[in-house]
Amino acid sequence: MFHSLPNYNLSLLLLILFSQVSRASLDVVQAQVPLRTSFAGTACKQTIFKHSFANSYGVPCVGIYFPPENCTFTTTIFNISVTSKGRQYDRLALLFFGDTEIWRTSTAMPTEEGIYWSYQKEMTVFDALLRTEQKVIFDLSSFYSDLYTGAFNVTLEALYYKDNYVSGLSPPDRIYPISALASAQNISSVMSLPDDNGTVSITFPRNVKTATVSILASGNSAEEFWYTNVPSEYVDTFPGNPGWLYGYSPFREVQLLIDGKLTGVSWPFPLLFTGGVDPGLWRPIVGIDAYDLPTFDIDVTPWLSLLCDGRSHDFGLKVVGFDNSAEDKIETVGENWWVTGAVYIWLDDHGNQTLGGNITTNISPPTFSYHPILTSTTTNGTKTNTSFYFSLTAHRTLAISSTIRTSTGSKQVSWKQNLSFSNIQNMTDLAYNQSLSMLSTGSYSDSFSGTESTYSYPINLYSAYVIAPTTATLSSVFTLIDRSLITKGIDILSSLTGLTLGSESLATRQFGESMYYWNETIVEGTAADTGVTEQWFSYSGHPGLGEDGVRDFSRHLKEVDDAIVTDDERWETMVVPNTKPLPYVEGEPVV
Ligand SMILES: *[C@@H]1O[C@H](CO)[C@@H](O)[C@H](O)[C@H]1NC(C)=O
Ligand SMILES: *[C@@H]1O[C@H](CO)[C@@H](O)[C@H](O)[C@H]1NC(C)=O
Ligand SMILES: *[C@@H]1O[C@H](CO)[C@@H](O)[C@H](O)[C@H]1NC(C)=O
Ligand SMILES: *[C@@H]1O[C@H](CO)[C@@H](O)[C@H](O)[C@H]1NC(C)=O
Ligand SMILES: *[C@@H]1O[C@H](CO)[C@@H](O)[C@H](O)[C@H]1NC(C)=O
Ligand SMILES: *[C@@H]1O[C@H](CO)[C@@H](O)[C@H](O)[C@H]1NC(C)=O
Ligand SMILES: *[C@@H]1O[C@H](CO)[C@@H](O)[C@H](O)[C@H]1NC(C)=O
Ligand SMILES: *[C@@H]1O[C@H](CO)[C@@H](O)[C@H](O)[C@H]1NC(C)=O
Ligand SMILES: *[C@@H]1O[C@H](CO)[C@@H](O)[C@H](O)[C@H]1NC(C)=O
Ligand SMILES: *[C@@H]1O[C@H](CO)[C@@H](O)[C@H](O)[C@H]1NC(C)=O
Ligand SMILES: *[C@@H]1O[C@H](CO)[C@@H](O)[C@H](O)[C@H]1NC(C)=O
Ligand SMILES: *[C@@H]1O[C@H](CO)[C@@H](O)[C@H](O)[C@H]1NC(C)=O
Repeated sequence: MFHSLPNYNLSLLLLILFSQVSRASLDVVQAQVPLRTSFAGTACKQTIFKHSFANSYGVPCVGIYFPPENCTFTTTIFNISVTSKGRQYDRLALLFFGDTEIWRTSTAMPTEEGIYWSYQKEMTVFDALLRTEQKVIFDLSSFYSDLYTGAFNVTLEALYYKDNYVSGLSPPDRIYPISALASAQNISSVMSLPDDNGTVSITFPRNVKTATVSILASGNSAEEFWYTNVPSEYVDTFPGNPGWLYGYSPFREVQLLIDGKLTGVSWPFPLLFTGGVDPGLWRPIVGIDAYDLPTFDIDVTPWLSLLCDGRSHDFGLKVVGFDNSAEDKIETVGENWWVTGAVYIWLDDHGNQTLGGNITTNISPPTFSYHPILTSTTTNGTKTNTSFYFSLTAHRTLAISSTIRTSTGSKQVSWKQNLSFSNIQNMTDLAYNQSLSMLSTGSYSDSFSGTESTYSYPINLYSAYVIAPTTATLSSVFTLIDRSLITKGIDILSSLTGLTLGSESLATRQFGESMYYWNETIVEGTAADTGVTEQWFSYSGHPGLGEDGVRDFSRHLKEVDDAIVTDDERWETMVVPNTKPLPYVEGEPVV
């Protein structure tokens, strides 16, 4: 059974009693909705791989997944567990079954004393893949040396359950990758945009009744903190701090194109990895979704009369940013966005070919409003830029509808999106001092539920860096962050699969303040680091799973200086306070 853990001493006691790892090692957690009220009662389980990732750059772990023998199951959960000890950056890791990416995760940053974590992911939507042999490719590219002494020891385990679902279970019949299709070479099939092509050809069976596409996209290197980037014409605002600012604006749109036509977009969630901005903020509570990067689902059912014509069709992914000098204000982005997609289809078992037509697209380009303000002083005839402030807002709506005719008759189907974005930034002190206030909100409605789903991602971030001029002194960053993730509505894939019935609500907020000092030579924090991060997390839904399903859940977490001081989990919702504005930026984003 599940116990409320009202304080840290009890968690620590349980840790000492049950943990297989050294008691000094720190459990680095991500708040998540438990996938079931109890993980006991598996029909069977197996280890998919165990691997130590040390010097693993471009050398993924390659293995074979065999479906469990003599095991009747409905539900599959993957359990990743990782230990690491030493010095290392946070790393991204991608799990593929063949050419299809099924999980994108990232690592916590280890310590000299050692850390561990485990995280469970619901995999039942991949049922079609889980019942046949698959090549497993887990790419966790990391460096290992005298300086970077932390390896990541990863165990991936599959847990299978034989469950009763209230309305039955209907996982997708087939899954097609939108990826580099490179698994035959034993490498990850991730595509890196804007350099890679991003397009694959797929031939559908003729009798498809529902189709949806899920997209995974994350920015790396100059695009990791895309939401703090500036319009390209301002990257050289502070010549005294060259290379500090990245361009292509803080607006990003990930697009799905079918035969070159826009079918849906994602204005991504601003993800922060465990080394993000200030590593002191994320230990031992990692940033929202760090262990399970979010997908965005686009319902492509309105395109079925076209897609079921027996021919091959192009599915393409693209990432664009705002460019004030471009005619349509849309341009390419910096390197490198790692993207993949997967197309999920459900077959019409009684139909020969899905027909229909009248595909109507009502798509307006994004509208932008952009106001830059540059402040400078002139001393003794020499001009110096002292601050740069700008606001950028964007709006877009998109609607695609059609008629489709399956064995159950004709119906009108549509996919609609409405998106808003506002980003205000203010930088002073050669942009070592940066504040951001961003709000991304939107709604979508799918072809099957009759529900409008909404999301909202506010983020307020203030950071003030002091970069040490020589290795004799420490660098530092003071950071304040207040951000939330609020979603309400239909999770397309889990609803169609029967894992959830109807609407779900999730609200979580992280508020953190940290003073972090590091040594540039050894890329490591120090004993002087102080920080507090508090997280509120509340969920309410309608599980398809019978008695083991989770209806309501909340968790309130707080860490002070790398130790959990509050951890209160309950089978009920909680009030999640709103993200509030931070100092040093005037005005609040309005979308
Ligand atoms: C599966 O069942 C068959 C027939 O009962 C048996 O021969 C086989 O050994 C079993 N395999 C495993 C892995 O248990
Ligand atoms: C996940 O794996 C870890 C390490 O083997 C284990 O301690 C933990 O109990 C597992 N979690 C579940 C839900 O089985
Ligand atoms: C990781 O695995 C390596 C090789 O098996 C081992 O030497 C090391 O002690 C392990 N580290 C941790 C933190 O578990
Ligand atoms: C891929 O890995 C498998 C298993 O390790 C190996 O048998 C095969 O030769 C490798 N293929 C290539 C192209 O390297
Ligand atoms: C991708 O490749 C296809 C086929 O070679 C080509 O038609 C298309 O223009 C390319 N797309 C991009 C974005 O380069
Ligand atoms: C001030 O900023 C503008 C815009 O980025 C830049 O073009 C200009 O060179 C900067 N001026 C100085 C003196 O740094
Ligand atoms: C499917 O094709 C078969 C054989 O041509 C035909 O008998 C049947 O009526 C068709 N079914 C539908 C739903 O069109
Ligand atoms: C398309 O719309 C027209 C006019 O409303 C209608 O007559 C026709 O039946 C529709 N076609 C399909 C395939 O639904
Ligand atoms: C400006 O010029 C005066 C006279 O040459 C000099 O004394 C002063 O230090 C200069 N100020 C700055 C900020 O460079
Ligand atoms: C889109 O959302 C905005 C903000 O909620 C709203 O004002 C606008 O009317 C919506 N547009 C459409 C076409 O639904
Ligand atoms: C940074 O680390 C190096 C290597 O351990 C050391 O020589 C140096 O003194 C350290 N610098 C500071 C400011 O602590
Ligand atoms: C920008 O930041 C500076 C210093 O942090 C502050 O004094 C100023 O009011 C801010 N400007 C705006 C427009 O928010």
